[in-house]
Amino acid sequence: MNVVTTVIKSRHSVRKFRPDRIDRTAIADAIECARHAPTAKNVQPWLFGVVVEKAALKAIADLTDNGKFIADAAACFAVFGEKNEKYYLEDCCAATENLILALQAHGVGSCWVAGEKKGYAEAVRILLGVPDAYTLVSLVPAGLPADITIAPKKELKKVLFTERFKKE
Ligand SMILES: Cc1cc2nc3c(=O)[nH]c(=O)nc-3n(C[C@H](O)[C@H](O)[C@H](O)COP(=O)(O)O)c2cc1C
Repeated sequence: MNVVTTVIKSRHSVRKFRPDRIDRTAIADAIECARHAPTAKNVQPWLFGVVVEKAALKAIADLTDNGKFIADAAACFAVFGEKNEKYYLEDCCAATENLILALQAHGVGSCWVAGEKKGYAEAVRILLGVPDAYTLVSLVPAGLPADITIAPKKELKKVLFTERFKKE
């Protein structure tokens, strides 16, 4: 068993959290892992926010459509990208996944909540006082899991081809 692949395969989106706080070292390590993500030309066009105050978590949750559970998270990470950098979306998505996997490695559940394509992206940026040069890419509410739903994955043979794609 490889520890990294085990963490990757054991991750599931968590939308119900226990009221416990998250260990500060887990938060710090998750941000460290996020900022170690690969980026085009190593530009690192991002800004990471961590919100733990209950009122602020509720304010973010209220702005979202499918992220109301952010209000009950122990923390919510917000990944912002520099709009003028060509690959900011890919770069910030790589950082988001690193963040989520690092949380999982620390036993902290989380869920990727959409940002960049949502109408509330600008409102979240303003709420958190982030400069206009950035746009919200993702929100990641996190906490100790109270409930985990396992989402089915497509069969490998339906999503894999080797050498050249052939129609069945
Ligand atoms: C770009 C992106 C946006 C997402 N946005 C939301 C969201 O707004 N609300 C939510 O509850 N889950 C959101 N998710 C989580 C997906 O619903 C979840 O990853 C998917 O159902 C598969 O489940 P799993 O993460 O447990 O494998 C998002 C995931 C991605 C990658």
